[in-house]
Amino acid sequence: MAREKIIIDTDPGQDDAVAMLLAFASPEEIEVLGVTAVAGNAPLHLTELNARKICEVAGMPDIKVYAGCDRPLFLDLHTAPEVHGETGLDGPDLPMPTMKLQEQHAVDFIIDTLRSHEAGTVTLCPVGPLTNIATALVRAPDIAPRIKQIVLMGGAQTEGGNSSPVAEFNIFVDPHAADIVMRCGAPIVMFPLDVTHQVLTSQRQMERVKAIPGAVGRVTYQMLDFYRRYDEAKYGTDGGPLHDPCVIAWLLKPDLFQGKLCNVAVETASPLTIGQTVVDKFAKTGRPLNALYMMKADSDGFFDLLVERLARL
Ligand code: BDR
Ligand code: CA
Repeated sequence: MAREKIIIDTDPGQDDAVAMLLAFASPEEIEVLGVTAVAGNAPLHLTELNARKICEVAGMPDIKVYAGCDRPLFLDLHTAPEVHGETGLDGPDLPMPTMKLQEQHAVDFIIDTLRSHEAGTVTLCPVGPLTNIATALVRAPDIAPRIKQIVLMGGAQTEGGNSSPVAEFNIFVDPHAADIVMRCGAPIVMFPLDVTHQVLTSQRQMERVKAIPGAVGRVTYQMLDFYRRYDEAKYGTDGGPLHDPCVIAWLLKPDLFQGKLCNVAVETASPLTIGQTVVDKFAKTGRPLNALYMMKADSDGFFDLLVERLARL
């Protein structure tokens, strides 16, 4: 089977970092064409730095990392230091990377990559605010029909929001970008809080992560041990949700998740509900079925995959 060619668009973020590691640990199934950083959990100068640090932890300094947009399309940037720490990647003490940041802008890299590969062969994996992807789509509308699929982390319905009563962080930070992406016409697979909140770094799963041998196991444990504290304190859960790795896990083992093809629209105007994803689960509107909206995860199966793969790095 041909390897899935992907671009990871990310704002690391400990859960972003685990998504990257899971992709890097799976070279038989996944070819990472590049990692594009965006402002989100932390400002851009930190998210691109963190992305490079994670490539080096994985022993993959040849992965190309690009810096993209440093703020949302129209709104001021909201970051999440209360969740991810001031560096965006608190927990482990990682050395400064020696690998260089690519000179090309992330948006140009995304456009060039989609134009230079055969149409329908490149998958975009955005796990942060959608600013880079939307900017690419606006600047180069010809790329939309060339995208194989967009597999993204974002949105919420049954769980409510984590940035407002109704909005999930990645959509809340740049709702205008999310609106452009949801309406671009490419097939979309969407991992909202409704499903990612089922994949928790519980005490039991953390013991398994702790037992992963080597530097990757140690760093992953340290990242997640920091990351879980916020959700445990705020929501009283046993662990924090591994949102972003669900995107990569689905590429590797789609049977771990169940969802429904729906219309998903993004609220961009109301001050009360801006960033809400409106999920038409029962096809009330007749709007196009633009997203496979995920609702259920096999959490044990997810951690079996994660632990097995990270041990390979
Ligand atoms: C999303 O927001 C970020 O904090 C995480 O990295 C994830 O992408 C969850 O709402
Ligand atoms: Ca993220």
